[in-house]
Amino acid sequence: MCLSDHEDREERLSVRRLNRILSMLLSEMKDLDDEGRDLPIRWNIMHMYSSSQLATLLALHRGINPELAGIAAALHDMGAVVTKKHAGHAEAASPYIYEFLERFNRASGSKLSQVNQEEAEAIVQAVVQHSEKELNSNDPFVELLRDVDSLDAYLHGVKIEGGRLERSRRVMKELGIAFPKD
Ligand SMILES: [Fe+2]
Repeated sequence: MCLSDHEDREERLSVRRLNRILSMLLSEMKDLDDEGRDLPIRWNIMHMYSSSQLATLLALHRGINPELAGIAAALHDMGAVVTKKHAGHAEAASPYIYEFLERFNRASGSKLSQVNQEEAEAIVQAVVQHSEKELNSNDPFVELLRDVDSLDAYLHGVKIEGGRLERSRRVMKELGIAFPKD
C-alpha cells in the first residue's frame, strides 16, 4: 500500500458553522406546536436536515461553497417556521434570517468564524427567491436552492409538478441517476 492511499483515509469537510446552525435551529424549533401552522413543525425539521445535506452534496458537485449552500438550505423555510404560513414565506424570510445569523455570530464568539455580511446576503438572496421554481437565475446559489428544495420534496414522497418536477428530473440527470418515469 502506498503512502497516498493511507493519507486518503482521512478527510473532514469544513462544515462546523453549518452544524452549529443546525443545532441552534433544532433547539429553536423542537418545542414549537403545530397550532395554526400550514404544515407540521416536524416537516420543517425533517426538510431542514435533508435539504441541507442535499445542498452540501450538490454544491460539491457544482464546485460552489458547500457549507454556504448547506446553511442557505438549513435556513430556507425560516419564513414558514416563523409566520406559520406557506404563502409568501420565501419573501418574508429576510429579517428573520439576518436576525438569526446575528444570534449565531454572537453565540459562536471566537470559537467559530462568523457568517460575514457578504455570505449573509448570498444566503438571503437564495432564500427569498427559492419559491420561484419556474424562473431561472444567473446566481448559482439561487438555482441550487430551488433545485434542492424541489428534489427534497420529491425524495420525501411529495407529489410534485411544474418547475419542481422539471428541476428534480434535471438534477437527477446531472447526478447520473435515472428518473423513475423517464
Ligand atoms: Fe420553501
